[in-house]
Amino acid sequence: MDFSEDTFLRHLAPTSPFPFRIPVERAEGIYIYSSNGRRYTDMISGIGVSNIGHRHPSVVNAIKAQVDKHLHVMVYGEYIQSSSNMLAKKLTSLLPPTLDCVYLVNSGTEANEGALKLSKRLTGRTELVSFRNSYHGSTHGSMSVSGNESKKAAFRPLLPDVRFIAFNNIAELQEITTRTAAVIMETIQGDAGVRIPSKQFMKALRKRCDETGAVLILDEIQCGMGRTGTLFAFEQFDITPDILTIGKAFGGGLPIAAFISGHARMQQLSHDPMLGHITTLGGNPVCCASALSTLEVITTGNLLKDVERKGLLIQSLLAHAKIRAIRRTGLMLAIDFDTEERVQRIVTSALSDGVIGFWFLSHPYSFRLAPPLTITDDEIREACAVILKAIENS
Ligand SMILES: Cc1ncc(COP(=O)(O)O)c(C=O)c1O
Repeated sequence: MDFSEDTFLRHLAPTSPFPFRIPVERAEGIYIYSSNGRRYTDMISGIGVSNIGHRHPSVVNAIKAQVDKHLHVMVYGEYIQSSSNMLAKKLTSLLPPTLDCVYLVNSGTEANEGALKLSKRLTGRTELVSFRNSYHGSTHGSMSVSGNESKKAAFRPLLPDVRFIAFNNIAELQEITTRTAAVIMETIQGDAGVRIPSKQFMKALRKRCDETGAVLILDEIQCGMGRTGTLFAFEQFDITPDILTIGKAFGGGLPIAAFISGHARMQQLSHDPMLGHITTLGGNPVCCASALSTLEVITTGNLLKDVERKGLLIQSLLAHAKIRAIRRTGLMLAIDFDTEERVQRIVTSALSDGVIGFWFLSHPYSFRLAPPLTITDDEIREACAVILKAIENS
């Protein structure tokens, strides 16, 4: 074992100057246990990943069973592997019939890269339309269609021919034209601080894409897998995307993501050029076994049905004069305060009392909560009491 900060800071590349640095010994359910004997309530699910808690027993068993059969045997797309067959069959059975073909990759950003490339291939067009303040990943293509300029400027030149329009603004949909290959949108904007579009907007978006022949990509990497109370958030807007991207919670704690579209569309990836979109470890069998088990857990019993009620419970418990606004869908919450500094104090104070909350990438005035969907009402009450104390003292 090595929980030394020295090793961490010396030999692991950083993403920010201020990492959380919890020395994680193990994790179970909604709790993370540190090597120095502390227990933390994970109210952010490792940023939208542990939707059924950490180390769900069914998922752990499925992983162990697959490990005993085989690990990687071949690059994605060549051999018939039961784990990816079963996962694709189950996943597509839960989706509209036009989303019946799955391309398995390793991370959310790769899912979006695949979706963007497929759109270009399908339309023969190059223009990509995205939304201000969106986040779609950190690789060059996904970053090109992400809306936060402060994170992008240092890495230009990025993809050309990308245009940004205002989120949830019907008038700006006119910017989508017959030149547009794809429109990419988070069904619920996550890192912009939980921005929820209107049903009217989503229907107008679908209509505009149909009129212009632009491919509609919905990115549910953060808001999918039950987070909003339905398996996928788009189900609540009565529209279906042409391509759906998923990741994060999809793998139940292992790295796997996917872009999903119709069978005929996906066939374009096999030719002109052949092998024009490939991945070595995409659809890794252990990750597939974990993802299948996770899907089964999410869609069995009352888990999804209870999401909205639990979200409402958190919202009702977090009543405090210092809160400016709460934006919420299901168990995905952004709690607005007056300053960035206050959010910082709340995050720090809750953490020192054993509750993990977080920030948003592109909205500094907000405190982020997205607990495992498996959290109980009593656990919600306990965590909210700590958060309220942090707010009171901030
Ligand atoms: C909406 C959305 N899309 C894409 C990504 C990128 O996923 P990954 O970090 O797995 O590449 C994220 C990650 O936060 C996300 O929230």
